[in-house]
Formats: sequence, structure tokens, C-alpha cells
Amino acid sequence: MDEVIVRRRDDGALELRVNGVFVMDDLETTSERLLANTALDTGARDVLVGGLGLGFTTRELLASAVVDRVVVAELHGEIVDRMRDGTIPGADLLDDPRLDVVVGDVRDVVSAQPRASFDAILLDVDNGPDFLVHDENAAVYREGFVATCAARLRTTGLLAIWSMADSDAVRALLEAHFDEVTVESVDVRLQGRDECYWILAGRRPRRSAIVPT
Ligand SMILES: C[S@@+](CC[C@H](N)C(=O)[O-])C[C@H]1O[C@@H](n2cnc3c(N)ncnc32)[C@H](O)[C@@H]1O
Repeated sequence: MDEVIVRRRDDGALELRVNGVFVMDDLETTSERLLANTALDTGARDVLVGGLGLGFTTRELLASAVVDRVVVAELHGEIVDRMRDGTIPGADLLDDPRLDVVVGDVRDVVSAQPRASFDAILLDVDNGPDFLVHDENAAVYREGFVATCAARLRTTGLLAIWSMADSDAVRALLEAHFDEVTVESVDVRLQGRDECYWILAGRRPRRSAIVPT
């Protein structure tokens, strides 16, 4: 059983830790909001998000009147509970009729969706393929799940993946499954250090590459 801690640090920041590992705080959220904007920039209306976290990606999506539906898959029900009770700001988000938060593994939640039913799938469930908090999340960055995501996207759909480092393996997978691949880096300042986060994205799934699931 994972230990999920949401705590207010001495510097005033809200911090999320899982099993003692820092996941994120609310001081530097540029990349989480950029993830949402990669979808908004395409005019996405139906969006699936992997990972509620502190809710910044979801809030950015719901701030757009163009967005009709956001399905969020969150592994830890405690995080949704902490948002509901106000420990994590966002109880207002949970009341938005366009939002459906499903407690479960993003792989199961995506697999359960009808084919070609989303304009965008945004994945921010771990630190990227090479820095996992949950070993099981290795599968999120592999062929089978990328193919499953591609199959759940409409013809102009977007799959965007947050990562704390660039990844040749993820780039190659996206290139195999999408017509257009973009990679964007974001300079951030994290707890006194300069860091660079990455959004790797594929647009327009190649139907020929999709393995039916
Ligand atoms: C870095 S946070 C997401 C941050 C979020 N983008 C935001 O704006 O606050 C990662 C979240 O993914 C969740 N998570 C981890 N593995 C998951 C999985 N396999 N399926 C669904 N959620 C997962 C974690 O519990 C955590 O809430």
C-alpha cells in the first residue's frame, strides 16, 4: 500500500510525496500547465488526463470554455479525498460537471474507453521512463500502452507525455504511432536548483501502426 502525504512545508508550499519520494509542489507549475496547453492549442474538447496530482493540468483545461469533458485517472483515492476536503485546493474543480475523476490506473482507464473517443490524452503519472516513483508505471512508456492511447484518439488527436528528462525511447515510440512528433523543454527552478522538464507529444495517430486492443 502506497503512503501518500500532502503537506504544507515551512516555506508555505504545498507538497505531494508518495512513499517518501517528492512528486511535486505548487511553487513551480509551468510544465503542468503547459501540458494542458498542448491540448488546448489543438482545440481539444474531450481530454483524458493521467494523474490528478495537485490539479494544475486539470484546472488549466477546465478554465477553457472550449473543453467539453475531462476524464482524470488518479491511482490514489486519497489524493481525490484531499482535494475534496480542501487540503489540496480544487474542490471547485470536482464540482465541475465536465469533470469525471476515476480512481484507478491510467492504463486501465484508457483501455476502458471507446476507440477514437478523445481529442487528447495527457500523461503526467510519473517522472518519466527513467525516473519512476512506481515501477509498474514503466508500462506507461512502452509500446503497448502508447498503441492503446493512439487507438483511443480521434484522427487529429494528441498524446502528450510529461517527463523530467528527454527520452529517445519515448520519441521513437511516438514516431512509430503518430504522424507529427514535437518535443518541448521547459526551464524551471525547483527548490533552488535549475531544472529542465519535457513534454513529448505525438499528433495524428497512424492507424496502420495501431494494434487493436
Ligand atoms: C506529478 S503528479 C501529476 C501532476 C498534475 N499534472 C498536476 O498538474 O498537478 C502524478 C500523479 O499521478 C498519479 N499516478 C501515479 N501513477 C499513476 C497511474 N498508473 N495511474 C493514474 N495515476 C497515477 C499520482 O498519484 C499523482 O497524483
